[in-house]
Amino acid sequence: MPLFIVRNDITRMEVDAIVNAANESLLGGGGVDGAIHRAAGPKLLEECRALGGCATGQAKLTGAYRLPAKYVIHTVGPVWRGGGAGERELLTSAYRSSLELALANRCESVAFPLLSAGAYGYPRDQALRVAVDTIAAFVLCQEITVYLVIYDRASYSIGEKLFADIAASIDDQYVERHTDRRWEQSRRALARRLPPDVLWEAESSSPPMAACLPPESLEEALGKLDESFSQMLLRKIDEAGLTDAQCYKKANIDRKLFSKIRSNVWYKPSKPTAMAFAVALELPMGEARELLEKAGYAFSHASRFDIIVEYFIARQNYNIFEINEALFAFDQPLLGG
Ligand code: APR
Repeated sequence: MPLFIVRNDITRMEVDAIVNAANESLLGGGGVDGAIHRAAGPKLLEECRALGGCATGQAKLTGAYRLPAKYVIHTVGPVWRGGGAGERELLTSAYRSSLELALANRCESVAFPLLSAGAYGYPRDQALRVAVDTIAAFVLCQEITVYLVIYDRASYSIGEKLFADIAASIDDQYVERHTDRRWEQSRRALARRLPPDVLWEAESSSPPMAACLPPESLEEALGKLDESFSQMLLRKIDEAGLTDAQCYKKANIDRKLFSKIRSNVWYKPSKPTAMAFAVALELPMGEARELLEKAGYAFSHASRFDIIVEYFIARQNYNIFEINEALFAFDQPLLGG
């Protein structure tokens, strides 16, 4: 099921379980721990006292009391000591133990903060990488929806190099296509030589359009409809040798939405959904464009969202969760959903 990255205060999340970034005593603290205990009320601490603590990388479950969630899963991430003391393994274990505990308690949705990325000093981009990799691997084979909750912009980082690389790509393409300097320069040159009324005609003569053949009857035209989005999607799933479930999970799409698309040959998905399937099917740019066209969309260089997705496809990086990390970093909607 899907993994979403969202901006929020985890104490407001209306999910089955929220995860607390606790310490081994489970007796409260600052950061997320403090916020959860304040919002849940004193009964949470009472229950925690009876748990007898929790080892780093492990997880324990309590009620949520005044919180909108049903449960609180208390887990302990590692303190960052430079990376050589098994921090990555312990952080992975904290996420995985929490997810397994959520599943064991029949939770259908769970929200995580970025474990260890605050007081415990884990470098934020590496903490995000471990979180997304661990959760993504889990949701690809389990039916549970996971939210990674980012409390403040400062605590979110995809890594300076990747961020700068994508920002440069946006600058190159977004500015050029958006202002289209060449067109502006030719317009100005023309304006200097031609009287206004003639200029208008020159301007309005858009690039030479392909001659349109006289349309046959409407019935004939409608009888020649191209393959629909849904038809192309199912064909490409077969060609890729994927099952439906493998495809929609790779697309970060839930089963309900996929079954709507499968059962309606003329279903029109949203642009993020259409792009998510292009990524899940690992389509080269040309076929990705074709799939989008079937849904009535085109890649546009007047859209940062499109440029970022195109950046990853051009580099044959079809990891939808990595793409969503980047989209989130640039305040764009996520793929899938
Ligand atoms: N909702 C969501 N995320 C939050 C919230 C909130 N209300 N408050 C803070 N965060 C974010 C921080 O921005 C950070 O990215 O949670 C992440 C984890 O930060 P910490 O809470 O400091 O947790 P951690 O780094 O794992 O350190 C745990 O801090 O609070 C003590 O008792 C806790 O000793 C333990 C240690």
